[in-house]
Amino acid sequence: MSVLIKGGRVITAADDYVGDVFVDGERISLIGESLDLAADRVIDATGKYLLPGCIDPHTHLDMPFGGTVTCDDVESGQTSAAFGGTTCHVDFVIQPKGATFAEALDDWRSKANGKQVIDMGYHMAVTDLKDGGSLEELAGLPDQGVTSYKLFMAYKGALMVDDETLFKTMEVAADTGALVMVHAENGDAIDVLVKKALAEGHTEPHWHALTRPPETEGEATNRAIQLARVAGCALYVVHVSCKESVEPIALARDKGWNVWGETCTQYFFVDYTFLERPNFEGGKYVYTPPPRAKANQDVLWNAVRTDILSAISTDHCAFLWDGQKTMGRDDFSKIPNGGPGIENRLQMIHEFGVRGGRISLNRMVELLCTNPAKLFGLYPRKGTIAVGSDADMVVFDPAKKVTISARTHHSRCDYNLFEGTEVTGSPEVVLLRGNVLVENGDLVASAGVGQFVKRARFGQELKPERVTAAA
Ligand code: URP
Ligand code: ZN
Ligand code: ZN
Repeated sequence: MSVLIKGGRVITAADDYVGDVFVDGERISLIGESLDLAADRVIDATGKYLLPGCIDPHTHLDMPFGGTVTCDDVESGQTSAAFGGTTCHVDFVIQPKGATFAEALDDWRSKANGKQVIDMGYHMAVTDLKDGGSLEELAGLPDQGVTSYKLFMAYKGALMVDDETLFKTMEVAADTGALVMVHAENGDAIDVLVKKALAEGHTEPHWHALTRPPETEGEATNRAIQLARVAGCALYVVHVSCKESVEPIALARDKGWNVWGETCTQYFFVDYTFLERPNFEGGKYVYTPPPRAKANQDVLWNAVRTDILSAISTDHCAFLWDGQKTMGRDDFSKIPNGGPGIENRLQMIHEFGVRGGRISLNRMVELLCTNPAKLFGLYPRKGTIAVGSDADMVVFDPAKKVTISARTHHSRCDYNLFEGTEVTGSPEVVLLRGNVLVENGDLVASAGVGQFVKRARFGQELKPERVTAAA
């Protein structure tokens, strides 16, 4: 199968030109000014942007959490991602306490098999180094293409690890070349604040934010940075939400330490006041870290513009409002933490970042495609438009007007964090390794087209043979 995409404005992290792109099989084989080649399929992209397929480095599909399971499984979550122009994501395998990493990986793979609509990789969330996985087993994960270890410094009594586990994992990462990712919040302090608030009779959703003040995020971010320096590993701080966390990352990067950070789409748009919405609507915005005071939004835009933060993910962790979020109607600490968003990242960042004059088109591609690919061992197979790269591309119509809504999104979630937001610019055709996934508002590929990607170690390039046929 060959595809010729003609006349699009090709945007990468570095380039911006009008050209034709020829796909032979699964890879881009030729890029030129005016290619006169026969192809099985010709796509006219005149007047459109041609972007690399976006990569979401932070998602939670089919994940047991907070006494329930996220409402999007691999098929529904990846379908939603595909409509939004995301062609690859890296999901979190959560090690159940007492289980080995192999058991956890097997479980996650069995949930994905046959359901994959886009390509995917896995991070390993380490929860237990005493009764479950060993340090030796952890050290073996990068050889299987699982080249990042995630640690939760919060969610006490559930996913949280102590500093010993954090530091030991960092030492393994320093040896194996894996990237350490942290959910940075001081879980012990938060646990005290939550118990106190409940004892005083505070049950409403906005207490989720009041019991997780930004200082608890700043403290844990700084702690993780300093421990990573001692261990000598590379560190990536996930879902940075506030100035208190941006500042230690800025300092670390200024000093040249091996520290990186991401924020997520929602932190630019949803602020603390959303949690105060009446009739338990505030419960929709209970995710962690919580929506912050609005002043943080400018701090985050500045951070992504200046590369203090290097990627924007979604942290898609969707729960139904009706039936799942409502488990915490009388107790904010029982609301499952997480929100949807896998489908709307490109639309929202294009609208408010690029059209809003905050970042360039090139920087948008860098934040949503190229940097996630580089940081998570997918580049140059993914994350750019270049000869030899996977033909993962988005024909993006910059003039298309869309009103974002749960009525039209493809996630199973019964609400959308950005409900009613009007954007100009949306994906029109989405290709994964030369296969058209989405066209004219329809999913035209079948589940099973997506593959598991064996990622390279941090700082290394992904060689062609690392893509395997099955998860
Ligand atoms: O509230 C969130 N973010 N839920 C997903 C788990 C996590 O902390 O990333
Ligand atoms: Zn987290
Ligand atoms: Zn997350």
